Amino acid sequence: MTSEMHGKVCLVTGANSGIGKSTALALSRMGANVVMVCRSRDRGEAARAYITTQSGNESVDLLIADLSSQRATRQVAEEFRRRYERLDVLVNNAGAILGARQVTEDGLEATFALNHLSYFLLTNLLLDVLKASASSRIVNVSSAAHEGATIDFDDLQSERRYDGRRAYGLSKLANVLFTHELARRLEGTGVTANCLHPGVVATNIAKEAVLWLRLAWTLLRPVLLSPDQGAETVIYLASSPELEGVTGKYFIKKTPVPSSPESHNQDVARRLWQVSTDLTRLGAPTRTSGSTG
Ligand SMILES: NC(=O)c1ccc[n+]([C@@H]2O[C@H](COP(=O)([O-])OP(=O)(O)OC[C@H]3O[C@@H](n4cnc5c(N)ncnc54)[C@H](OP(=O)(O)O)[C@@H]3O)[C@@H](O)[C@H]2O)c1
Repeated sequence: MTSEMHGKVCLVTGANSGIGKSTALALSRMGANVVMVCRSRDRGEAARAYITTQSGNESVDLLIADLSSQRATRQVAEEFRRRYERLDVLVNNAGAILGARQVTEDGLEATFALNHLSYFLLTNLLLDVLKASASSRIVNVSSAAHEGATIDFDDLQSERRYDGRRAYGLSKLANVLFTHELARRLEGTGVTANCLHPGVVATNIAKEAVLWLRLAWTLLRPVLLSPDQGAETVIYLASSPELEGVTGKYFIKKTPVPSSPESHNQDVARRLWQVSTDLTRLGAPTRTSGSTG
């Protein structure tokens, strides 16, 4: 174990598998106090045991939430706030590609709810803690799948037509638009927001995808990046001193690169922010602190 991240609290969603698990392990090895958010207690406990053993760092906490549920996301944010006074790094990573259209308990298309709205809601619910802990960082795991996607505000929930890869691309574009808008809103606060494409990585991401994609993923596995390789840019954004003050950027292989033209459309980003605020009821009067509106 090293000490670069000693004293830092790092929350990683989807930390029991793939890129999130490798990220949690690396941050733990750097001495951070890692808080894993996982939807399955069994899978989360198994990953936590692995991470503490491999890192030699006992400061690995586990919170349970199905992040496609806004109720569960709010509960996990509250639980985090009860346990911790600071948050230095928030890694929004949990995600899925869903072959068939699924609807969450909030009545929303599940890919959009999990891959975008959970990033949006969890971040906003923890924003005051992040600001109080500045300088602090938000890392949103997006994908090159955002390229070519557009946001159809008339069919955000893919009700008219559902295609899993299209819904995924839309959600990953939403990650980039959210990162850009968030960085603009956080200017001067000492909280940075960046996003990335991890590469094409041999993880469980396609486990609920359509059959041909699952098969392709299995066949391609030997030539894909390992989860540790896929996590390299996430870890870099979460921990490198070189990134101090860098915000609003999209990275591939630890390098800032241009994201798609659509992801730079500020009107779309502002509108998506407003729609996301409405869908998560963040603007409702019952909300307490944390939202940037
Ligand atoms: N793999 C790639 O090639 C690739 C490429 C570009 C971007 N990405 C992005 O990388 C991120 C991580 O994915 P991965 O490739 O590491 O896949 P993964 O191995 O399937 O990991 C995804 C994680 O998200 C969790 N998760 C899924 N649904 C959840 C829910 N409803 N509530 C809470 N957690 C949930 C999973 O938990 P369970 O184990 O319980 O399902 C798992 O821990 C995703 O945002 C993905 O879009 C991946």
